Amino acid sequence: MRKNIVAGNWKMNNDLAATRTLISELESQVKTSSAEMMIAPTFTNLLEASKLLKESNIEVIAQNMHFAENGAYTGEISATMLKSIGVSTVILGHSERREYFNEDDAILKQKVEAALENNMRIVFCFGEKLEDRKSGNHFNVVENQIKNSLFHLETESWKSIVLAYEPVWAIGTGETASPDQAQEMHQFIRGLVNTKYDDLVSENISILYGGSVKPANAKEIFSNPDVDGGLIGGAALNAESFMAIVNAF
Ligand code: 13P
Repeated sequence: MRKNIVAGNWKMNNDLAATRTLISELESQVKTSSAEMMIAPTFTNLLEASKLLKESNIEVIAQNMHFAENGAYTGEISATMLKSIGVSTVILGHSERREYFNEDDAILKQKVEAALENNMRIVFCFGEKLEDRKSGNHFNVVENQIKNSLFHLETESWKSIVLAYEPVWAIGTGETASPDQAQEMHQFIRGLVNTKYDDLVSENISILYGGSVKPANAKEIFSNPDVDGGLIGGAALNAESFMAIVNAF
């Protein structure tokens, strides 16, 4: 059966002191949960976060990585570097990476391969922009993002993939996809995976929703049959609201 996952993407927030504080608040509030928990602090705080959460059931994950193993890529971080500090899950394809850092489907395909070669798990993000939704092109956009970066993979590799649908118009805007819009897209995605692979892959893949998830709307969004959790931005920066979202399961 597929897992429920709630992941907090801290983006470019929290210095070292704030990272320590938020982690200790999370630890004091964490209960046994029916959802797997992950947090993605910035690169500079990953080592500290993984040390602090070594014994906990909150997994520390990275927000990005480069596709090369090492070399002349100033400012970049590789899969082996992440693995060496105990980080074995990475978010790839976030819309902010696509938009501000020109990461396209082909680059993301290379990153996916590099992560898998290093036995890492991937939270793979995709989602349409407002103009795509308005023109009714959203299914097409999502289909291409998934196909172009993931559909070359062997069935076996899908055990290491978590999908995250994040409509760009809902990220940080306070506007959330309605539960029906989320379910409709998640069902479409599961169907797409099923058509390319098989029932085992499509029924076991966790598909997270991201975009203005808050304690007030989490329960309704997560109650959809094809929504297996959330990728949380703003609301993950506060321990109480993040835990309230986790506990919506
Ligand atoms: P918000 O929850 O702030 O809308 O961000 C969602 C997101 O981008 C998570 O990756």
